[in-house]
Amino acid sequence: MKIALGVTGGVAAYKAAELVRRLQQEKLDVQAVMTRAAQEFITPLTFAALTGQKVITEIFSAENAAPANVESAIEHIAVAQRIDLLLVAPATADSLAKFAQGLAGDFLSTLYLATKAPVVVAPAMNVNMWEHAATQENLATLRARGVHVVAPDEGYLACGMVGAGRLASTDAIVLKVRDVLGLRHDLDGQTVLITAGPTCEDIDPVRFLTNRSSGKMGYALAEAAQRRGARVILVSGPTDLKIPEGADWVPVRTTEQMHQAVRERAAEANIVVMAAAVSDYRPAATHEQKMKRDDGGLTLTLEPTPDILAELGREKGQRVVVGFAAETNNVAENARGKLARKSADMIVANDVTQEGAGFDTDTNIVTMYLPDAPEISLPKMNKFDVANRIFDQALSIRKNSK
Ligand code: PMT
Repeated sequence: MKIALGVTGGVAAYKAAELVRRLQQEKLDVQAVMTRAAQEFITPLTFAALTGQKVITEIFSAENAAPANVESAIEHIAVAQRIDLLLVAPATADSLAKFAQGLAGDFLSTLYLATKAPVVVAPAMNVNMWEHAATQENLATLRARGVHVVAPDEGYLACGMVGAGRLASTDAIVLKVRDVLGLRHDLDGQTVLITAGPTCEDIDPVRFLTNRSSGKMGYALAEAAQRRGARVILVSGPTDLKIPEGADWVPVRTTEQMHQAVRERAAEANIVVMAAAVSDYRPAATHEQKMKRDDGGLTLTLEPTPDILAELGREKGQRVVVGFAAETNNVAENARGKLARKSADMIVANDVTQEGAGFDTDTNIVTMYLPDAPEISLPKMNKFDVANRIFDQALSIRKNSK
């Protein structure tokens, strides 16, 4: 994951160098961005050496001024799209005021406005500046807009005064970054096998049976598991999604290929989550040549595919096995039926007729069904948050069964 670290001009700027190291220990790729004032306190060279990347200091630097280099100026702006988080530490009163007002006179404030990534600020300044109504109002504005604030510590300040204004500890800042990015360590050392996307069953060389799964739910599960420290095996039907970096990605097309891949890899997994929309039937025979139209109707004979989840459930051992249920009616009854028939530890049911739930949406609305326990219904949330709730529950299943 990539984060931009904005360093602004305060005495605490030197502490940002230590912060880079700690963020790298979290396996984060850090792009440093410095304001002019920050460079009065610490040189860009320090951050370039630590990050191994060019430090962005100007919106239009001398080297970008020539027309031949316009591309590289645009490339700098592209940082806004590439990052997963913007952290500003230390954040001066001036930078907070610029963010609150929407001023975009330098690279950092432009980046703040241009990015859709979450923003964390760690202010540091003189106590009177910190307590000033202007600063507090700017902070209230930023908080109301969703900016995360790591409040400064109290103590001796560089100006000789005592009070709040000292940059929060590196630990506190890293903790907040981890929290906002969903980086936890509760799946460290675990292997999670996830199935995602649709399966395709060929009728002839040009036609196949499939469904509307985009893979978004499964890929969100993969991302959440990785951020929590797990090694991820992602068995995926065809999707247009970006392969998650660092995941062991196993592409498949048919239910039989998914079946084989899951059989081969399940022994490595501590947790299996079957989010794929697997075909229940396939053509009994695949025609080798393209089928020709004729005047009569056409009857396709279908045969059942292997039930991968039921097979896993029968042989699950210590593994936590989670299935999904895509339903259009009688959700609770069908989900509880699948929980029992497939011997799963949990079934995550989604009513795919609901707006914002199920296929090819960024959000989902799910209810988690567990044996001998009341169901847990979640409100509409993005698929990454749903994924995290599923892993919270999977971990509690494991704890309870120990
Ligand atoms: O991919 P998205 O666009 O993000 O959409 C997400 C989703 C709607 C696909 C997802 O949330 C979901 O509901 N996945 C399960 C779809 C499905 O196949 O449901 P089902 O009720 O038909 O199957 C029940 C469970 O058995 C599922 O875990 C399924 O993976 C599994 N199964 C089904 C058939 C089969 N032959 N083998 C299986 O293992």
